[in-house]
Amino acid sequence: MKALVYHGPGQKAWEDVPDPKIQQPSDVIVQIDTTTICGSDLHILKGDVASVAPGRVLGHEGVGTITEIGDGVTTLKVGDRVIVSCIKSCGKCSFCKEGLFSHCLGDEGASGMGWVFGHLIDGTQAEYLRVPYAETSVYKVPEGVPDAEAVMLSDILPTGFEIGVRAGQVKPGDTIAVVGAGPVGLAVIMTSALYGAARVISIDLDANRREQAHKFGATHDVDAAAPDWREQVMALTDGLGVDVAIEAVGIPQTFDACLKIVRPGGNVANVGVHGKSVDLPLQDLWIQNINISMGLVNTNTTPMLLNLVASKKLPAELFATHYFTLDQMMEAYDTFSRAAETQALKVVITRD
Ligand SMILES: NC(=O)c1ccc[n+]([C@@H]2O[C@H](COP(=O)([O-])OP(=O)(O)OC[C@H]3O[C@@H](n4cnc5c(N)ncnc54)[C@H](O)[C@@H]3O)[C@@H](O)[C@H]2O)c1
Ligand SMILES: [Zn+2]
Ligand SMILES: [Zn+2]
Repeated sequence: MKALVYHGPGQKAWEDVPDPKIQQPSDVIVQIDTTTICGSDLHILKGDVASVAPGRVLGHEGVGTITEIGDGVTTLKVGDRVIVSCIKSCGKCSFCKEGLFSHCLGDEGASGMGWVFGHLIDGTQAEYLRVPYAETSVYKVPEGVPDAEAVMLSDILPTGFEIGVRAGQVKPGDTIAVVGAGPVGLAVIMTSALYGAARVISIDLDANRREQAHKFGATHDVDAAAPDWREQVMALTDGLGVDVAIEAVGIPQTFDACLKIVRPGGNVANVGVHGKSVDLPLQDLWIQNINISMGLVNTNTTPMLLNLVASKKLPAELFATHYFTLDQMMEAYDTFSRAAETQALKVVITRD
């Protein structure tokens, strides 16, 4: 089959690799019908994620059709259309039992690490995929949900909702600020409506993304490069600061921005993946009663979010801006990696 193979920093190729095979009784093989590219894939290609070995097939988001099942699989069958979650879940370990799939102790990839596809085992940017612990790691796609919507449930919608909205304890009537309006920040904005955020301030450097943010539910936007960006946010909150500030970029500057705009007693939810340490001015924060949260997505809210997408309560189609076929994988990467110019949010890459 063909797959997008990582060959070390800056190097990738769409090339022939062996077809995946069932290795464990709980595995299934999925024919990938639709996949997409995540900011994390670009991080890997920059060489930021040392745990990805050259030779690895990338990708952790996908929707496909089961073509083969292991002997132990009873709740899935050949022909089922499924969403592949970016996080594995063995369903049996202590972390999986408490819903902390991000730290699943099953030994596929590495025990204790939930993100395995396109990281520690071969991923979804391929014609076929082996899925371990399949019964607890894939979700059947209901009738009527197109692939281009379902694929947003592999990663970005659960990430924005779990690590942004829920960890940030967004409540009805809150004013929240979301720093970063990439697909993940936009997923935070979209799902913050579920918990009744009244005012949603999108903060980004990119004017196109700030404008897009309004379609996803932002009520205000602020240019992160404006000298008075903080004053603009404070003016929207009677000078008090926002109830919840959510970081969706992954750099020290944007984490710091969240600390500067949160009100006393408020929450800072960090969603971004950081490569450097950040300053934590505890000497100022402790007396402000600030809560700070962070984490790797569990994807334990995927079934709930999928219900909302199926019933058209979450317009997941808004994320899809560009369409490609699998054999145009290199072009899809090029478009996604130049998002500021191409105005790409999520590229949807389909079998045909
Ligand atoms: N915690 C998790 O489980 C998890 C899961 C998936 C992704 N992520 C992380 O979430 C983050 C966002 O992902 P994405 O795919 O939306 O990324 P992205 O790169 O598409 O979007 C980032 C946005 O931040 C904006 N930005 C950059 N610098 C800024 C600044 N100084 N001030 C304001 N805005 C700025 C960019 O213009 C862009 O719109 C990444 O760090 C990604 O790795 C975390
Ligand atoms: Zn991702
Ligand atoms: Zn587990």
